[in-house]
Amino acid sequence: MNKKLSHSELLAIVKSVPMLTPSANQLLQLTAQEDHDLADVVNLVKTDAKLTARVLKVVNSAAFGLLSNITSIDRAISYLGERIIVSIAIGDSAGKLFDKELAGYEATGGDLWRHDLRTAIAAREVASQSGADISPDLAFTAGLLHDIGKALISDYLLGTAPDAIQMIRSDESVDYLTAEVAMVGFDHTQAGYELAKIWQLPEALVEVIRYHHQPSQAGEANRALVYAVHLGDNIAMLSGFGTGADSMQYPLDPGYGNYLSLTPIDLENIILTVDSEFSKLQESLTANGEE
Ligand SMILES: [Fe+2]
Ligand SMILES: [Fe+2]
Repeated sequence: MNKKLSHSELLAIVKSVPMLTPSANQLLQLTAQEDHDLADVVNLVKTDAKLTARVLKVVNSAAFGLLSNITSIDRAISYLGERIIVSIAIGDSAGKLFDKELAGYEATGGDLWRHDLRTAIAAREVASQSGADISPDLAFTAGLLHDIGKALISDYLLGTAPDAIQMIRSDESVDYLTAEVAMVGFDHTQAGYELAKIWQLPEALVEVIRYHHQPSQAGEANRALVYAVHLGDNIAMLSGFGTGADSMQYPLDPGYGNYLSLTPIDLENIILTVDSEFSKLQESLTANGEE
């Protein structure tokens, strides 16, 4: 049995994670506001020369196959759209966390980013097709960040996956969150929550990170958004993009139907869209990582 972390040990781990860049942080604050527009995003990106250069590099990458280069940041941002700008900023700012090899989950480097990206795309589709009053772009950002806590506790879970799966098999009231608590004292939503507070993320994102496996416990104001990410997370896992040992080891809360109006055909369409959007986004964002 692994050693359980105390709360102060967990906080020390969380505090050792670098802060987001100021522009990434401001971008998350801005895009969580209902009344922002793309011009606000443009103005913010312009304050960060490195981010501006990255955005131009992505828009002019082979993935988009433009006939002539885009040299204006305004045009680049309106061409790419908010969700890609946010992905670039988060990837630049916290790429090390997302690329981390989640050995404690028996997952390889890059699995967390791929799972988060698929969850983000699915959550965005769920939000826009569900008829609920949820910003699709905010659902995307929330999907990207939802499992960040796994990068924090993975090392401490090393070697625990077989025992965790055994616990779940022998007691149907146990899911992977309960197993994480039994192994290291905290689950990945609690660890992510502590980081979200230190990063001073907007409340909506904090709630998604904390309650994406227990959406009914989220505050009323953000509950529909949390359900959208909950469903997006399950769609990502169902399509074979989990993060290793814990994939599909969490219950799906059928209460999403109270917040999101989706027919089985809508869900099928969302699954298809996730596949095609994922390849497109994955390719374009890889240009972001090239030096
Ligand atoms: Fe999770
Ligand atoms: Fe997840």
